[in-house]
Amino acid sequence: MKTKTRLKRKLVFFATANVHKFNEARRILAEFGIATVMINIKGVEIQDTDIERIAKTSALDAAKKCSLPLFVEDAGLFIKALNGFPGPYSSYVYKTLGTRGILKLMENVEDRAAEFRSVVAYYEPEGGMLKTFQGKAEGKIAEEPRGTSGFGFDPIFQPVEAEGGRTFAEMSTEEKNRYSHRARALRSFAEWFLHRG
Ligand code: IMP
Repeated sequence: MKTKTRLKRKLVFFATANVHKFNEARRILAEFGIATVMINIKGVEIQDTDIERIAKTSALDAAKKCSLPLFVEDAGLFIKALNGFPGPYSSYVYKTLGTRGILKLMENVEDRAAEFRSVVAYYEPEGGMLKTFQGKAEGKIAEEPRGTSGFGFDPIFQPVEAEGGRTFAEMSTEEKNRYSHRARALRSFAEWFLHRG
């Protein structure tokens, strides 16, 4: 394999302004021998009911801004008892209501089932290839925030796989990466990225 091709396959650009997301991603992709470079630009985040469409638009916009092949990642927290709210509006709801606001909406709600969904959108300007990869993490909304690691809704999300009902914020990045929506989407991206023709 030519050096240039090998390099192209082993290095990937992640357009994000979120250093927590970058730290999670770089560890996951390193498992596949892929080095991740953070590009601190934010692709436009449209309001839409579909996180895949949000991620695709964001990837195209970010690539236009820096003329590089890159991926973006968009995620949302979908709460069953709230008919999937905040879902695609998670970013806005996190900024306005925060974790406390979600807990308030969930007061006296018995069914606390929820899931995080993630979409990774990869775009290559040369050839105009756009691919998406999905991942999800099932769990429950905690009764109160617990833990200080991670970001966003981590202190109120207990993935089903974690013993003792621990939240993402009570885990190391390494453990969160075992069960997270983002890790699953990124692993499926990495498989494709390494094996494409
Ligand atoms: P974004 O649009 O992908 O940045 O995410 C939407 C919202 O969901 C943000 O406000 C984040 O706080 C939250 N979020 C996304 N991924 C995670 C996660 O892995 N843990 C906790 N919160 C997250």
